[in-house]
Amino acid sequence: MKHDIKDIKLAKKGALRIEWARNNMPVLGLIGQRFAKEKPLKGMKLAACLHVTTETAVLMEALKSGGADLTLCASNPLSTQDDVAASLVEHLGISVFSIKGEDTKTYYEHLKAALAVKPDLTMDDGADLVSAIHQKSHADHANIIGGTEETTTGVIRLRALASQGKLRYPIIAVNDASTKHLFDNRYGTGQSTIDGVIRATNKLIAGSNFVVAGYGWCGKGLAMRAKGMGAKVIVIEVNPLRGIEAAMDGFEVMPIKDAAKIGDIFVTATGDIHVIRKEHFELMKDGAIVANTGHFNVEIDIQALGSISKTKKTIRDFVEEYITRDGRKIYLLGEGRLINLAAAEGHPAQVMDMSFANQALASEYIVKHHKKLKKDVFKVPEDIDQNIAALKLKSMGIKIDVLTKEQAKYLSSWEMGT
Ligand code: ADE
Repeated sequence: MKHDIKDIKLAKKGALRIEWARNNMPVLGLIGQRFAKEKPLKGMKLAACLHVTTETAVLMEALKSGGADLTLCASNPLSTQDDVAASLVEHLGISVFSIKGEDTKTYYEHLKAALAVKPDLTMDDGADLVSAIHQKSHADHANIIGGTEETTTGVIRLRALASQGKLRYPIIAVNDASTKHLFDNRYGTGQSTIDGVIRATNKLIAGSNFVVAGYGWCGKGLAMRAKGMGAKVIVIEVNPLRGIEAAMDGFEVMPIKDAAKIGDIFVTATGDIHVIRKEHFELMKDGAIVANTGHFNVEIDIQALGSISKTKKTIRDFVEEYITRDGRKIYLLGEGRLINLAAAEGHPAQVMDMSFANQALASEYIVKHHKKLKKDVFKVPEDIDQNIAALKLKSMGIKIDVLTKEQAKYLSSWEMGT
């Protein structure tokens, strides 16, 4: 079995950490048990491009139980947990191509290695696999019946591809399921980003001016958690509706050029390019910390920071100290890559449980229904989303009410008014 990982000797440590995640992923566990009996993915070659974490390992176990033949590569050069990669090779017999800190060339070679198996199904986090497939001839991957996409950035890229009429097979946007983005993007990113900033810097959040760029679900979660730790949170937005939301949620809202002067910690979560640019670095205070939690390392213009700096050194793991020509120190975290996975361990298993339950069930859905699906981007079917929510609630030991007959009838009627 082919693979390219850091060190197979890390497998034992990886297995223990995967066990910890598995203990916190009861919904995915139930799906895995059913998959083991029903084998809905039997005979399917599945290429997955995901962050190689303990939670992803639990997803791989469920998919393998379902009969899938798996190949896994990293969806980011800095997010791989090398002990997990080792355990997946050693204990689960999966072809893994991913090494933490791999350079761009190796990253793309790993992607290529995953596609070399000629998959029937793809599973992406950021759409790099789909993008690579669409840059090759159609004949190379004519057997692909469908795919899934994990994240906001990937869904945006896929919709762009579909709107140009170029998408070659149906894809389910796992990100758009309520049981994904309302929890993973909000509570997962909120907690793990703070975790990444703290692990990298060990700075006190309380009392700091914490600037959050972007008030989507990730930005909302991050702003909420930073506030909870005592930061004075400033939100940057371009969307008027989200600007009002942030203001009414109690945050200061202002343009980045104003926030740049007062921020102590900046975190981008917009999904767009060059949100923090040269003119903003010029205004920053001595000691400002800059990080990104969006999918790609494009949100901070790192080249511009380099261009106004006279020196640069790694002062701690995942912390680069730039000294500007006018003598200010600006700290860039995790090379501008998603700090929650670069310096911490990504979202906790309890939220990934729902995200990856969607991945597993969306893959099953594609195998069952691909002949009816157009070459487009689809939502996770509502019944799957609701079922995951119900299972999660049950696993948390929480009961809720059911509508009485009278209430159900009222909700489907129009006659009764004042
Ligand atoms: N994305 C964010 N957190 C993650 C995790 N823990 N595992 C896989 N993908 C993730």
